[in-house]
Amino acid sequence: MNNLLSTKDMSAKTAFEILDTARELARITDGPNKKLPTLRGRTIVNLFFEDSTRTRLSFEAAAKRLSADVINFSAKGSSVSKGESLKDTAQTIEAMGIDAVVLRHSSSGAAQRLAESGWIKAKVVNAGDGTHEHPTQALLDAYTIRSHFPDHDRDFSGLHVGIVGDILHSRVARSNAYLLSSLGAKVTMVAPSTLIPTGVDQWPAELSYNLDSVIGDLDAVMMLRVQSERMSDSYFPSEREYAHDYGLSENRLNQMKENAIVMHPGPMNRGLEISAAAADSKRSVILEQVANGVVVRMAVLYMLLGGVPIAGGSEIV
Ligand code: CP
Repeated sequence: MNNLLSTKDMSAKTAFEILDTARELARITDGPNKKLPTLRGRTIVNLFFEDSTRTRLSFEAAAKRLSADVINFSAKGSSVSKGESLKDTAQTIEAMGIDAVVLRHSSSGAAQRLAESGWIKAKVVNAGDGTHEHPTQALLDAYTIRSHFPDHDRDFSGLHVGIVGDILHSRVARSNAYLLSSLGAKVTMVAPSTLIPTGVDQWPAELSYNLDSVIGDLDAVMMLRVQSERMSDSYFPSEREYAHDYGLSENRLNQMKENAIVMHPGPMNRGLEISAAAADSKRSVILEQVANGVVVRMAVLYMLLGGVPIAGGSEIV
């Protein structure tokens, strides 16, 4: 792997190699010794121009568990406030000697620009670019779904995933639509018409405006955060109406299939897109998603920085 920028062009073969590697890393580090010497001497920078809890911390944990050195950069408090560009910031950090950049940026396409501009030689991982893509989130979501449906270990055909809510502002929705459909799943986007982006008809997904009509058919219900910070307009009449029409209430939770799971990439707006009853229910795998993020990001860093994909039983050194 050269860079990890999106799931749009990722083959199912590559995705399963990453998921298999993550599973093997989970097996190896599921003991008292969580640390591997694999990336000793390598330096990874977390270059974050937007806020993050889960992604930044799990990339840091992943890099450290592979014995890499980690530099954390946050735009807040940096020379970005003095007008320094992405190019100059990245080149400045590379001058300190780095092997990979994990980039989160508010501009869609920023990671691709950094990877393909020739500004730096380091590998680039997209940790979320604007409303475009969040490929490692989709990979950890696929890993989580796979762990709950072992009959679909190498093929997600027959699984139906609903992605519900603020599709318009979501990079998670797009990355998941491409990845999960490539693995064989049926994907349905569920949202009010005001929260559906133009061009969604090109996505490998079906579309529904009615959560109640699809909820009973879903194996995984992925609720999306209402991204108020990206909204300059009013996209629904009131929070109360949104929660009524599109929130995962206790009543809707009870209409789900017996083995269906509840997912959310976080952070959650409890009481808006998801009720506390759903977030804290037995069906909820939200904290599993967080835990799986570490091993999936370990696999991505391992494969980017020279490791070959590993199948079960192989040695990682
Ligand atoms: N899921 C996700 O990207 O969360 P953070 O914004 O906290 O990283």
